[in-house]
Amino acid sequence: MSRLYLNEKASRARLKEATAAREDRRDIVKALSWGQVSRRELLKLGLFTGAGLLAPIRGLNPFVSSAYGSDDLGIPSSPLFGVQPFTQPMLRFDLLPRAPMSPTTLNPAPTKEANTAPQLLDPDLVGGARDQYGPIEGRLLRFTLDADAAVPDPATLRQARLAAARARPGAAMFANRLQKNLKRLSAWARREDVSCFRIYDADMPEYAFAIDLYGNAERHACVQEYAAPATIAVEAARARRDEVLSALPDVLALPTERIHLKTRRRQRAGAQYERAEGEGVFHEVREGRHRFLVNFEDYLDTGLFLDHRLTRQRLGALAAGRRFLNLFAYTGTATVHVAGGGAVASTTVDMSRTYLDWGKRNLALNGLAGAAHGFVQADCLEWLREDLQEQRRPYGLIFLDPPTHSRSKRMSRDFDVQRDHVELLQLVARLLEPDGTIVFSNNFQRFRFDAAALPELEIRDITRETIPPDFARNPRIHHCFLVNRRG
Ligand SMILES: C[S@@+](CC[C@H](N)C(=O)[O-])C[C@H]1O[C@@H](n2cnc3c(N)ncnc32)[C@H](O)[C@@H]1O
Repeated sequence: MSRLYLNEKASRARLKEATAAREDRRDIVKALSWGQVSRRELLKLGLFTGAGLLAPIRGLNPFVSSAYGSDDLGIPSSPLFGVQPFTQPMLRFDLLPRAPMSPTTLNPAPTKEANTAPQLLDPDLVGGARDQYGPIEGRLLRFTLDADAAVPDPATLRQARLAAARARPGAAMFANRLQKNLKRLSAWARREDVSCFRIYDADMPEYAFAIDLYGNAERHACVQEYAAPATIAVEAARARRDEVLSALPDVLALPTERIHLKTRRRQRAGAQYERAEGEGVFHEVREGRHRFLVNFEDYLDTGLFLDHRLTRQRLGALAAGRRFLNLFAYTGTATVHVAGGGAVASTTVDMSRTYLDWGKRNLALNGLAGAAHGFVQADCLEWLREDLQEQRRPYGLIFLDPPTHSRSKRMSRDFDVQRDHVELLQLVARLLEPDGTIVFSNNFQRFRFDAAALPELEIRDITRETIPPDFARNPRIHHCFLVNRRG
């Protein structure tokens, strides 16, 4: 580089341009070091040279200027009519709140029709002539704007943020990946008649989201954001979220009101499912020949765990003629499959009244409700430990799907699936018919089955068989085991 500094007489525009170029360089280097964009993309965009340097182009290099026009061409400059440069920043009218205005605040008062009476024209506008008349074209209105009182409308701000995000290379990369996934998985879902499925699961680690499609005629998308690690700045996480949200409506061909965002925080041990704000809107979706109610706004989960689609199918296939026990039943979706699969009776147990009521509605929706299918609100551990004086009848099929941790006011001590699974299975096995089957699953990624502590039970790991293709990227989303009595 022959010159290190710009000429001190360089115009203000030129200096401003050089400053902007320096900021652009810094933004790109920052995005690169945060992993928001890769070297390869920058190369593709022409912002990086093959040698890995920022391209020496205008907008990135302080020494490469625009081509400015000059008077030397002999063309007279446009008249400015004595207008001075702006003395204060221009207010963004689209971001200011609209104030109600009545005609009485306008002076002179507006007329119904345009004032077409000929007016003496400004000589500057008509080549210096002082006797020209013409209609006025508009009216100058003066208002006092209080910039401090201006409150940007959040919806407008959000739209502006999403529009900016859509223009970033990250949004395009994410959209490409999602498009590919959608094509592949939609073909599979059509073939298999699956109408609710996962189409993206943090495939690009920097976009740590899980995206599920629900429904048939009226489709919805449920977007869950994995909580960013503390090392990721809040703004960077927000920028990525904006990029994802800006890409979704086009790729999924869905209006924004059918795209639902949930942020999934790492649950503290014992934290229970939180209820989010919403209006209690339930949607009907289909799974094979069964129908379920899902809710996208009010709870952390929708009411239907998609990773257990094959587990439910398997339970349905084992159901004929069995008495079924569903422990930690949530919205009773497994009960629906089992009742539909020909079980003679069922008991659905959960601690939450809300989820049990939801389960009852699910059963009724499928025309399966009846006296043979009972619902019990109880802490499963207490319910299992209860003195069985009244001799509960054993069950031929039991689904045991406890949370990783559980605690509540109703429980005497907390539950930890790794620590307590042996005791839990011993309790459950007491309720199993001699030729019965327990399907035991949980979502603790590092779960280790302590089979040696349960010598009376035969345990078969069926995790791989129960992970559906749309969850193949996350094979540890659940563990699943078939448990039978030995001998
Ligand atoms: C992981 S979900 C179970 C998912 C369900 N098996 C399914 O396939 O949809 C956890 C459920 O366990 C319930 N739960 C948590 N601790 C409990 C306890 N100690 N006793 C009974 N239910 C409990 C919650 O209310 C929630 O519905």
